[in-house]
Amino acid sequence: PSIGVVIPAAGRGTRAGAGCQKAYRRIAGNTVINRVLKLFRSWKTDCPIIVVHHPDDTALLDASVDRDANIYTTIGGDDRPASVLQGLRFLASLDQSPSHVFIHDAARPFAPHQVLNRVYECIVKEPTVGVIPAITVSDTLKKTDSNGLITATVPRDGLSRAQTPQAFELQIILDAHERAALSSTEYTDDASLFEELGLPVRIVAGDAQNIKLTYLEDFEEADRSLRLRNN
Ligand code: C5P
Repeated sequence: PSIGVVIPAAGRGTRAGAGCQKAYRRIAGNTVINRVLKLFRSWKTDCPIIVVHHPDDTALLDASVDRDANIYTTIGGDDRPASVLQGLRFLASLDQSPSHVFIHDAARPFAPHQVLNRVYECIVKEPTVGVIPAITVSDTLKKTDSNGLITATVPRDGLSRAQTPQAFELQIILDAHERAALSSTEYTDDASLFEELGLPVRIVAGDAQNIKLTYLEDFEEADRSLRLRNN
């Protein structure tokens, strides 16, 4: 299979503190988005990568990334699926559009190459099956009411936390996103679109390092540990 990458980076990042779009923040001297680009570039040297950004962030993006001829940018939408759809349309419109796409959150700069390899190996074996990395839940899960009091303990058997990159045959996930754009369901990842259509999605082992930077503390912690490792 041939691979392209879509990176939704058009969120506003409000949970990480006012005024900071998380993809453009620097950790240990390098922007989060540039770290994501480097992790894919050092894995597949010439695959097309589409960065989907907010219209207000064009200058910020230009100042944040080391471009090459196969890195493209396009404008996103109001929510994550709308942004992913723009990226998929762009990828499919390229002259040499790839057979498969890896969709990866801009906020996950620490995905190890082993995770990318595990996802890729599945695509090679079963090209029409979607693949996502995930880690099984080890904590006990509690449901709470609006006063913070526990209302239930949720059995964790068979539960996993989904990560990215999530990989699919380009045309199938593009069609699924075109359809989803017409519905009012809120999707927080791409595999759920496959699931809703009854299409198979396989889980491979994710990695605890592959966190989604969300809160201010996530950035502070990442900055500290990268500086310790001189990275
Ligand atoms: O908000 P959440 O953490 O789920 O965002 C996941 C990813 O989706 C982030 O990389 C964010 O930039 C992206 N996103 C987007 N367009 C939006 C909202 C989120 O590309 N409108």
